[in-house]
Amino acid sequence: MNEKTEGASHHVPVLLGPAISGLNLKTDGCYVDATFGRGGHSGAILQELGTDGRLLAIDRDPQAIAEAPESLKHDPRLELINGKFSELKQYATERNLLGKVDGLLLDLGVSSPQLDEAGRGFSFRSDGPLDMRMDPSSGQSAAEWLGAADEKTLRDVLRKLGEERFAGRIARAIVSARQSAPIQRTAELAQIIHAAAPKTPRQKRHPATKSFQAIRIFINDELGELKKALAASVDLLRPGGRLCVISFHSLEDRAVKRFIRERSLEPVQYRGLPDIPEGMRPTMKTIGKAVSPSDAEIAANARARSSRLRIAERL
Ligand SMILES: C[S@@+](CC[C@H](N)C(=O)[O-])C[C@H]1O[C@@H](n2cnc3c(N)ncnc32)[C@H](O)[C@@H]1O
Repeated sequence: MNEKTEGASHHVPVLLGPAISGLNLKTDGCYVDATFGRGGHSGAILQELGTDGRLLAIDRDPQAIAEAPESLKHDPRLELINGKFSELKQYATERNLLGKVDGLLLDLGVSSPQLDEAGRGFSFRSDGPLDMRMDPSSGQSAAEWLGAADEKTLRDVLRKLGEERFAGRIARAIVSARQSAPIQRTAELAQIIHAAAPKTPRQKRHPATKSFQAIRIFINDELGELKKALAASVDLLRPGGRLCVISFHSLEDRAVKRFIRERSLEPVQYRGLPDIPEGMRPTMKTIGKAVSPSDAEIAANARARSSRLRIAERL
């Protein structure tokens, strides 16, 4: 079976203009794109940088790095790293970049090629092995996890990470199905969910949408990764440096919003006092309101639909 979806899938960068302007680029600045994907945002950053500018781009998916556009691969201002953004602080330390970064971009979630290539196992639309790892060389696949997790854990993940109303029924159906044979293909899982989740007359999305998203977020520990990267941003950015985060899920957006708000406030016991000790002062300030895509962007790229950009500046 051909696990590749017909036609080469490319990734259309989301909220490109607002993210680039949010980074407030300086031609000789040092930037980090922690989610290189297919290099849409990185390419736009490089276009604005002069010869002294520098860009570190990271992706945990080895395929994203291997398939980086040739024009970017050979750009001497760009360094590509295959790794996780939870290790940002280490990458910055190794390069003597702590407190020297002018802007950090996180464009969360998965890229179109990851979703569209059936062999990666992210999609319920095209049948493939149930994998869902952004880095297929590390951690357990979705099939391995679904084969071993107890019903309560399955239900909790579907409920918390997918906000799936029918989490209990779906978890029960998964446990029952795997008693006859391991669930190994995306189409099998989609079918099990379809049969277990009652359909509402106005439902537009495939009934497996939320479950697939929840399993993907769990398998890749996406919320844990985000938390570590946000914490590292304070160490990386120089005063005036910008943090731009594009999220696609309410849980991610909530985590970003909360992080920026917490870092923008002094601890309760110092609030309102004229003299706040150095280590207790706010470290970030919010820049503008959360940015959503325009109707035109959504019409041109359905994947932009749930995106939201938040911007903060290091104080
Ligand atoms: C939405 S895509 C980014 C697209 C990119 N901005 C572009 O325009 O081409 C997200 C990318 O981030 C990567 N990614 C997700 N979580 C990551 C993590 N914790 N560490 C490093 N890369 C990650 C994914 O593998 C994927 O390639």
